[in-house]
Amino acid sequence: MADKHIPNHLFKALIEREQKGMLRKLTSNYPTIDFCSNDYLGFSKIGLLSKKLETSSLKQETIYGSTGSRLISGNSVFVEEAEKQIALFHHAESALIFNSGYDANLGLLSSIPQKEDLILFDELVHASIHDGMRLGLAKNFKFKHNDVEALKDLVQRHQKDFKNIYIVVESVYSMDGDTAPLLEITEFIKPFENIFLIVDEAHAIGVFGNQGRGLCNALGIEKKCFARVYTYGKAMGCHGSAIVGSEVLRKYLINFSRSFIYTTALPNHSISAILNAYQLLIETDQKDILQNNISYFYSKTSGIKNMIKSQSAIHSLVVDSNEKADLLEKKLGTKNMYAKAIKSPTVKEGAERLRFCVHAYNTKEEIDLLIEQLHN
Ligand SMILES: Cc1ncc(COP(=O)(O)O)c(C=O)c1O
Repeated sequence: MADKHIPNHLFKALIEREQKGMLRKLTSNYPTIDFCSNDYLGFSKIGLLSKKLETSSLKQETIYGSTGSRLISGNSVFVEEAEKQIALFHHAESALIFNSGYDANLGLLSSIPQKEDLILFDELVHASIHDGMRLGLAKNFKFKHNDVEALKDLVQRHQKDFKNIYIVVESVYSMDGDTAPLLEITEFIKPFENIFLIVDEAHAIGVFGNQGRGLCNALGIEKKCFARVYTYGKAMGCHGSAIVGSEVLRKYLINFSRSFIYTTALPNHSISAILNAYQLLIETDQKDILQNNISYFYSKTSGIKNMIKSQSAIHSLVVDSNEKADLLEKKLGTKNMYAKAIKSPTVKEGAERLRFCVHAYNTKEEIDLLIEQLHN
């Protein structure tokens, strides 16, 4: 029977999803051993950021809301100063804060590439990049995951038909945890004046590079990127994001990026959290502790069949059906461990997996316990 509160065909779509074992559901009852959250450094969950904020000399706003969009009443000297510090940290001319990584990608991809331009994107880029492209006017083609030859081939075939080409990749892929071949890509685009590289560093900030500056920093290619996206909801343990690049890019986004313009700005206590998270990157050794745990996890799991090779905090075991992914998640749950079943349609059919996020606060005993379960 159809639900009265929703048109019939939408109700059917839900039933169909449920029947295929694909229904998404919210839960708040998480097992306590965390191999799931994006809080790689523990800034949020082990209270490092809240403790830091208690004693922070950085201004804490007493008003709760920012009261408007950045272009109306939501701007402040504080946020502009924060953007200058972010730019400096990431060795860029400018930074512009967005309310989330989703908003940043939406605003960037929908406003920069124009009708006469082409976007070439890795087939595994995040949904926010897809949504940004859908809102924009440029044509787009995907290339096979991490396949630089496929990318070169697309450039060679289409270059003459387009004014500019934007290449979009993630430095660390959120589902596979592997890293983009950024050195090869930057080497390839060097001779072209009209090819621009956009790198989403969502899962690389805090994990790679000097003091967690990201993978572009680790590889020495920060200046070779047209735009880089840093998000603060993952290793930084708070919320929001920034697009870093040239001063003129910032000016353009302020003028044309709709997800920046038409939304209430982050309040200053969020900006304060972001700045304090950057200080934690500099002051603590959480990144080294995380890297030790990643190496330990990697050494213990590299022999497991269908484990995707990764040097990042994200590791995935492909189990190739929603049912098997659910079963494994439940099995780990009985040992009080939480790793997330990532099912189709979030990943394509056949690529269903259990995704493990390694954290600085995971103990060796927890990692051993997890691996024991995977071998059983
Ligand atoms: C690669 C990537 N980009 C962007 C986002 C969106 O960031 P946010 O959660 O801040 O909206 C995510 C995660 O959600 C992501 O994995």
